[in-house]
Amino acid sequence: MHYQLNTTNYHNFATFAVNKLPPRSYFIPYPDRAAADAVTPKQKRYSSPKVQCLNGRWDFKFYPRPAELPTQLDTDAVAFDQIDVPSCWQFRGYDRPFYVNIRYQFPYKPPVIPTTGKAGRVFSWLGCDTGVRLQWKDPGEEYNFVGVYRRFLNIDNAHKRQIISFLGVASCMDLYVNGAFVGYSEGAHNTAEFDLTGKLHNGQNELVVVVHRWCNGTYLEDQDMFRNNGIFRDVLLRTEEPSDLWDMDAKTEKTADGYTLTLTAQTLGDTDVTFTLQGHGLTRTSTAHAEHGTAQAVFTALDVTEWNAEAPTLYDIYFETATGCVKEKIGFRTVEIKGDVFLLNGRKLKLKGVNHHDTDAANGYTMSPDDIERDLLVCKQFNIDTVRTSHYPPDPLLLELADELGIYLVDENDLETHGTFAMQIPPTYNSISNDPKWESHYLDRIQRLYQRDKIHGNTSVIMWSLGNEAGGYHNTDAMYDYLKLHSALPVHYESAIHCKRQAYDVGSEMYPSVKMVHDVGEKCRKQARLNDRPYFMCEYAHAMGVGPGNTEAYWQEIYSYDSLMGGCVWEMVDHAVLHKDGSYTYGGDHGEWEHDRNFCVDGLFYPDRSPSTGAQLIRFIYRPIRVRHIDGEQFEVFNTTAFSVGRYQLTFRWNDGSETVLTPQTAPLTKETVTVPLGKAVDGLQAVTVTATDLTDSRVVSEEQLVLAQEVSAAPAVTALPAEATVENGRLVCRCGGKVAVTGAEESTLLYRAPTDNDVDAMFHNLMAPYTHQTEEVVFSGKTANGWKIITKLRNKCGSYTVTDTYQGTERGVLVTSMLHRVSGGREVPRFGKCFRLDAAFDAVHYLGRCGESYCDMKDQFPIRAVDCTVADMVEPNLRPQESGNRTDCTVAAVSDGKTRVVFEAVGHPFELGIKPYTDRELLAMKHREDETRTGTYVTVQAFQQGIGTGACGPGVMPEYRYKLDSDYTLQFLVRIEDEPAR
Ligand code: GAL
Repeated sequence: MHYQLNTTNYHNFATFAVNKLPPRSYFIPYPDRAAADAVTPKQKRYSSPKVQCLNGRWDFKFYPRPAELPTQLDTDAVAFDQIDVPSCWQFRGYDRPFYVNIRYQFPYKPPVIPTTGKAGRVFSWLGCDTGVRLQWKDPGEEYNFVGVYRRFLNIDNAHKRQIISFLGVASCMDLYVNGAFVGYSEGAHNTAEFDLTGKLHNGQNELVVVVHRWCNGTYLEDQDMFRNNGIFRDVLLRTEEPSDLWDMDAKTEKTADGYTLTLTAQTLGDTDVTFTLQGHGLTRTSTAHAEHGTAQAVFTALDVTEWNAEAPTLYDIYFETATGCVKEKIGFRTVEIKGDVFLLNGRKLKLKGVNHHDTDAANGYTMSPDDIERDLLVCKQFNIDTVRTSHYPPDPLLLELADELGIYLVDENDLETHGTFAMQIPPTYNSISNDPKWESHYLDRIQRLYQRDKIHGNTSVIMWSLGNEAGGYHNTDAMYDYLKLHSALPVHYESAIHCKRQAYDVGSEMYPSVKMVHDVGEKCRKQARLNDRPYFMCEYAHAMGVGPGNTEAYWQEIYSYDSLMGGCVWEMVDHAVLHKDGSYTYGGDHGEWEHDRNFCVDGLFYPDRSPSTGAQLIRFIYRPIRVRHIDGEQFEVFNTTAFSVGRYQLTFRWNDGSETVLTPQTAPLTKETVTVPLGKAVDGLQAVTVTATDLTDSRVVSEEQLVLAQEVSAAPAVTALPAEATVENGRLVCRCGGKVAVTGAEESTLLYRAPTDNDVDAMFHNLMAPYTHQTEEVVFSGKTANGWKIITKLRNKCGSYTVTDTYQGTERGVLVTSMLHRVSGGREVPRFGKCFRLDAAFDAVHYLGRCGESYCDMKDQFPIRAVDCTVADMVEPNLRPQESGNRTDCTVAAVSDGKTRVVFEAVGHPFELGIKPYTDRELLAMKHREDETRTGTYVTVQAFQQGIGTGACGPGVMPEYRYKLDSDYTLQFLVRIEDEPAR
């Protein structure tokens, strides 16, 4: 079929919609109530006889040179491939995945975007690949690629009204049907609907969608993510009858005598509408005639159970006409701001949140209903009760599931212009958002967010968000005003901080220091509008790589001040690309001419949603019940929930085996003292692990260990070194049956670690680099009365040090004493540990210490207990290998090859333990999981290792988790070789 293609919509600034239907609520009609009752939210859009889902294999033609797209397109002459709808073409073999954070992929000249020529030279001054540097880059063969989609559609009801809905297309779409242009849309994550009535005929129809990589709207979609394209969400064809609903709304309001529910239907023609509210023993129904397309029912004095995320009670609402039934679920709850306090149902809330992107390593932005549900279930399992839909409206299913499962949502607009900052000198956030010529574009986006999601503004959505990192304020003010006209919900927008608005209804910041948060609580921030209203951290605890460190400190503040609402960790899931062989890639791995490396790999969960330590840490920090030892048998129980009383059963299990079970009736956000008999110390450890179980579903929500005492015995009396232990080349060598079992590693003293992502700061300084340039030189090696003494001179780019090691015999093995002394420079060191090498056959690990990855500023998530595992379990599968797997508070560690066991035993103090299948130096060069080749078993016993912090994007390691070399450090432990007991 022949098409005259439109060649201007995508780059004509005045045009962001042509023939696009006005926004309306997302809903799926069914013919009648029985049919509507029979489906779950996940099935809804796929099983209604009134809606045809057009997902599947579509014809697809990719034009890497947009100039080659004919303006007169004959689809019969095109050699189409096939592609999945929905999908992102970069994840189906066209173009390539492209990850960039702040910068645009084309020269910054808003609103101009490349058309058919090369993208052209690009100026920027900030990027992970280039650092901070003014520069022009030539992207080379980069074009505004085009994808042409085609599918046939058979219908037999062409006389009816037919509406096509695209739930997500990036960046924009021109739609054609049967040879004729239908309309145009931009706003990738908003729904685009077109009226096809009269354009379809019975039998076969041809549908063509032309998608450009960039359009003017791309200036508003500069989110930190893989920059994908295509029809990435479902496509629906709706058949509508004259007496069907065009739109519907529901509004709840709390009055003196209960709730009022106002249901409004916009119908296509004059018709009766029966409105019903039903559930939990309550039924109200009313029929109204829609004249001029509007009908309404008001149900008053409703005695309902209120909704909250802890107990998400929903009611059914039905809108019925002669031809259809729309069924939705609704909760009754209030949200209000009183002074500086954010209240839900009159209660203070502490939002335990994460930022959620639609991200799938095999499909990019495309998420199936199961994927969406899984993500919310994962949140529930990890005590996460709030999701910010960063940075665009999610698939509408997510809102339905959040209502049902009980998750608070900050529903965010599809808007970010961060490139204004990185691509201009002087940098500013405000160039586009304060330019009135963009106002209508902004308003279109906020209207489409609000109108699509409005009924969820009664339930899970507790704030609308104007967008992310787009500054302000002319156009953000306009969006704010629009929302205020339509909704009573508070409006969130962090980037107001970059313009004179500072804040809208709530103060919001990203990555503040604990001190800044404290100062908000104390009302002494310079930005007055952060002090006088509720305060929300829309992003904090950047979860990139190992970390986030020092997160608990924020919660100490949040629980101390009523105005602090909590916050959302950045972010829930790593973004990456999964390959057939199981490997993952990140920014720069796909030949991107500009990129931000692994800055997209910053989730609490790995791409397959398996939890990293960060997720376990957050699950712990977000626990609903906290316990603290006060004194003697007195313990404090803190109920961190807003609504639950008596819901969590606490089992206090001492390590001597004694147990106390109780179910405190502590009121929300209050503390209570309980009495629990103390257990006895076992092997020096007196500790109680408190397991909290949710009595509503028997789920264990947290395990919290309180350590009352951890005593470590002193060094045994010194005797002569046994014959199996010698010193060679300045290093300890222990033999067993004549064979070397363990030896000091080539780098026997470690003052550095392979940089974690948080060891590289936001200005790209590798803070670990000066320490990794380490040289060791043995300057003295000699025998002493009971063993050996070795003095090593150690230098790095910060300073020079001496390490004095002595190896002495005892009845419990070789006593290793290592003293670190600063000679010059280097007043601080990140780590002090002694490293030993064993053969890779020593693979079985046993230790007593924190039972998972722990560093001094993130360790309480894992109790101290005995662990048996393998060497592989002692490192974490970060997509970019880095220092990982440390264990704090260890008193003993052993590695075994099945016959012989090499034991490291603490003396005087617990040590920190690292066991890796490669050396820390080898780790320095690794970029992906596949680089992790095993070269042995390396055990590092450490006096200390500094904390992790969140320096990649946020505050670095706090002073209390760093180690100053004002005086010498001594590390002491025992090494012995034992026969593995026969089993
Ligand atoms: C924020 C931004 C997020 C993400 C994060 C760093 O500035 O809002 O989208 O880029 O930093 O990972």
